[in-house]
Amino acid sequence: MKKFFITTPIYYINDIPHIGHTCTTVAADIAARTHKLLKDEVFFLTGTDEHGQKVAESAAKENLKPIDYCDKISPRFEEAWKNLNIGFDFFIRTTNPNHEKVVGELLQKIYNNGDAYKDKYEGWYCIGCEKFLTETELVDGHCPLHPPEKTVIKSEENWFFKLSKYVPKLIELIENNETNYIFPEGKRSEILAKLKAGVRDISLSRENVEWGISVPWDTKQTVYVWFDALINYYSATQFVEGKKDFWPANVHLIGKEILWFHTVIWQAMLLSAGFTVDQLPKKVYIHSFYMIDGQKMSKSLGNVISPGQLVELFGVDGARYLIARSFPTENDSDVGIERFKEKYNADLANNLGNLVSRVAKLSENQSSPNPFFDKTGSLDKNFVKLIDNFKFDEALSWIFNEFVDKTNNYLNQETPWKLEKEDPKRKEVLSVCIDNLRKAALNLQPIMPETSKKILDIFEGEIKPLEKSLFPRI
Ligand code: MSP
Repeated sequence: MKKFFITTPIYYINDIPHIGHTCTTVAADIAARTHKLLKDEVFFLTGTDEHGQKVAESAAKENLKPIDYCDKISPRFEEAWKNLNIGFDFFIRTTNPNHEKVVGELLQKIYNNGDAYKDKYEGWYCIGCEKFLTETELVDGHCPLHPPEKTVIKSEENWFFKLSKYVPKLIELIENNETNYIFPEGKRSEILAKLKAGVRDISLSRENVEWGISVPWDTKQTVYVWFDALINYYSATQFVEGKKDFWPANVHLIGKEILWFHTVIWQAMLLSAGFTVDQLPKKVYIHSFYMIDGQKMSKSLGNVISPGQLVELFGVDGARYLIARSFPTENDSDVGIERFKEKYNADLANNLGNLVSRVAKLSENQSSPNPFFDKTGSLDKNFVKLIDNFKFDEALSWIFNEFVDKTNNYLNQETPWKLEKEDPKRKEVLSVCIDNLRKAALNLQPIMPETSKKILDIFEGEIKPLEKSLFPRI
């Protein structure tokens, strides 16, 4: 059995789950389900990133101890994903003592390898991103991603990690097609250019952030939250039962803003801790961002869309479908509730849902014309390829063109409702339609698991008209 280990970023818990987190998680779920259907042994990991200054600040605002705050917020993510039928295999929290132990061990290896040294650093620091920013990254003197007050001058004596030492090795790996792990191509060239432009070492610890894991050889400092967070991908394989053999990860799926951490710092950390090239993550897939009605999503603009809102409006599978259709694969994707409604009505209510109702009604009392149809049959190879490259829009277009639109046209051309119930021609036309809908359902499994099951059930045995449409119009 092939192993397939896929991860999402672990989300900061000082925010509530929104459509951005949702799109990465749904995408990873679709890939995980696809590989489960291919009979691979799958490990799908997601979770929450719980240490660092901004979590401590958020906790203080609510008069809570950081851990109590984390215990309160983290389940919101877990719940949100369960409500979207996300089949993650483990939900990791960085406050889990098992994770903390692995972080200490891995950092100790980096230290033992001579890759940690003490130095003083002063610079612009964004508390929102939890990272130092270079002058060129500042826009109007502050971080472009967060409000101005989040950018502060920080001067600290920290432990530094010799990131620069690993740059030649990383360039070598990325330039070689066999060992390159950065996808899509545009991101690979972006990272190569940045690596070649020169890289500075970065600090791996914080002096004044109490809410974190102690540096094993200097307990006055805590581990920089990004070093702690990245290690989750590895630590989960070490302490979750039966998952040791899943390392290295097949895919780290991430958004574009955390590309450097996942394609440079993480690999350098692993190499420094003694991992061989074969033990590095196989693929980091970087997707773009959702924009909401042409604007960045932000609390202050009040345009944040939550996963709960999507489920309430469109149902679980409707929400999953809309996310998949609009997934920001290589370019940013502009979405909005009104456009989601239009798309839902056009594709699901008026098209797929309506077709299923019509065919079921026309074939009333007819027995399933193809009893040999294999519900567990395999997914189309090209479809799987598109899913593996996170091209969900193309994958769905293929299903819709091939099995829904063609069937609709065929049905309208053949007009079986004009024929007598017992007319063999009528039965023949309907069996073609039913077979196509089954094929659509088979391939829709990873994207809309419940809908797929419903369609397969409707057309099994004696067919009855639907009491309720699969996707009521809104
Ligand atoms: N905690 C870090 C990740 C550590 S991973 C070792 C973090 N968390 S986050 O809560 O800010 O989540 C960032 C991720 O959420 C992005 O990389 C992306 O997957 C997703 N998105 C957040 N906003 C997004 C959009 N507007 N659009 C699409 N995805 C976005 O960074």
